[in-house]
Amino acid sequence: MKIAVIGLGYVGAVTGSCLVDLGHEVTLIEKNNEKVSLFNACISPIAEPGLTDLIRKGIATGKLRATSDASQELLLCDLVIVSVGTPTNQATGRADLTSIQNVTFEIAEALKIRSAKLRIAIASTVPPGTTEGIVREYFEKQGIDSNKFSLAFIPEFLREGSAISDFMSPTRFIIGSRTQNEAREFMAMRPELLDITHFTKTETSEMLKTVENSWHATKITFANEIGRISRSVGVDENEVMDLLIADNKQNISSTYMKPGFAFGGSCLPKDLRSLVYLGHSHGVQIPLLAGIAQSNSHQIDVAVGRIVELKLRRVGVLGLAFKANTDDIRESPSVTLIESLLGKGFDVQIHDFEVDGSKLFGVNLDIWNQHSHLAQNMVSNVQDLLEESEIIVLAQHNFRYQEILKNIPSDKVILDLTGLTRSSPK
Ligand SMILES: NC(=O)c1ccc[n+]([C@@H]2O[C@H](COP(=O)([O-])OP(=O)(O)OC[C@H]3O[C@@H](n4cnc5c(N)ncnc54)[C@H](O)[C@@H]3O)[C@@H](O)[C@H]2O)c1
Repeated sequence: MKIAVIGLGYVGAVTGSCLVDLGHEVTLIEKNNEKVSLFNACISPIAEPGLTDLIRKGIATGKLRATSDASQELLLCDLVIVSVGTPTNQATGRADLTSIQNVTFEIAEALKIRSAKLRIAIASTVPPGTTEGIVREYFEKQGIDSNKFSLAFIPEFLREGSAISDFMSPTRFIIGSRTQNEAREFMAMRPELLDITHFTKTETSEMLKTVENSWHATKITFANEIGRISRSVGVDENEVMDLLIADNKQNISSTYMKPGFAFGGSCLPKDLRSLVYLGHSHGVQIPLLAGIAQSNSHQIDVAVGRIVELKLRRVGVLGLAFKANTDDIRESPSVTLIESLLGKGFDVQIHDFEVDGSKLFGVNLDIWNQHSHLAQNMVSNVQDLLEESEIIVLAQHNFRYQEILKNIPSDKVILDLTGLTRSSPK
C-alpha cells in the first residue's frame, strides 16, 4: 500500500519505518521541518534501538521518506495513519485534541479533491467518541460523501525502548470502526496479523488504549505500595511479589477481571483492612490500597441508585451470600444493598440457594439474628419472588440463576449487577 503517516514522533517514526520493512511505501508527514530534514538524511528524530538501521534501509529502497507538505501526499496515498500528539492537561486530564482537529481539516480538503477512496486510521490516543465525533462528524458537515473514505481507530500499543519488536510482533491487532466491513478494509495494512485481529466498535478501541495504560499504571503502583509496606516491616518485597506472580490461576490471570458487583465475604475485606492497617501503623502512605474499600462500597451505592432510578417498589434480590455455592453472609454486599433498599422503603424479597437461617453458626448466625429483616423477607421458592417482584436484582454470580432468568415474564425489569447474564458457564 501507499501509506501516509502524519506526525513524525515516537509512534510515527516507528510505524512508518516498520511498515516499509513489511513491504509498504510510506511518506511521513511532519510539520517540523528540522525533523523532516534529519529523517531524510537517515538520522532518527528519536532514540529507539534499531530504528536508525530501519530508516537507512527504508530510505535506500526509495520507499520511505518524510515531507512537510501534507496536501500532495494526502491526494496520492491509499491509507493515512494519524499519529500526532494528544497531550492531556496535567491538572484536569482533559486531552488536547487540537492536532487531531487540524489533521482532520487537512484530510477533509484532500477528500474533497480525491476521486479514489481513502482509508483513515487514527493511531493517536484519544478519548472515546473522538474518531466518530470529531473526525467523521467534520467530514459529514463538510458534505463529504461517506463512500469516499473509511475510518477506523487502531490503537498503538508499542512501548518506547522495545517499539520495533512491539510493532512487528504484537499479541493482538485491534481495529475499531463503525461497522465490521469498514474495519476489514484496514486489514490490508497488516494482512499477516489476521489471525490475531479483533474487530470492535470505534469507542471500545479508543477506550481500550487508555484502560490498558491505566492498568499498567495500577500494577506498577500496587507493586510499589506492597514494596513500601514490606520494607517497613522488614519483609523482602521482591520475594513477596515473586511468589504472588508465581500463581497464574488466581493472581496473574483473567480471574476477577470482569466488571461486576462489589466484593465481600470473610476474606477479601478483612485482609485488605489488615494490610492497609499494617501500612498506616508504620506511617506508610498507600493511597491505592487505602482507596479500594471506598471504591467497593461505592459500587453498592451505585447499585442502590440504579434501583431507585427505576421508580418501582417491589424488588426481588437473587443471592444473599457473597458468592455462589456458599452460605457465608459475612460482609456480603447483598446484605448492605438490601438494608439500604429497606431503609428507603422498598418491598424486598430475597432468595438464596444456600442460605438457611436455621442452619447458620457463629458469626453468620449473629449477622442473621442482628438483621431480622433478612429472615422476614427471605423466600424459599424463587418462583414466588419472580412473580411478585417488579425488579429482579441479580446480586450473586450464580449460574443456577441464569436458567431461572430465561423464563421471566417480559414485564419484569432485570438488573444484573454481576455480569452473569453476559457470561457462559465454564
Ligand atoms: N510514545 C509512545 O510510546 C506512544 C505509544 C502509543 C501511543 N502513543 C500515542 O500516539 C500519539 C503520538 O505520540 P508520540 O509520542 O509519537 O508524539 P510526539 O509528540 O513524539 O509526535 C507527534 C508529532 O506530530 C507532529 N504533528 C502535530 N500536528 C501535526 C500536523 N498537523 N501535521 C504534521 N505533523 C504534526 C508533531 O510536530 C510531532 O512531531 C499520542 O496520542 C500518544 O499518546 C504514544
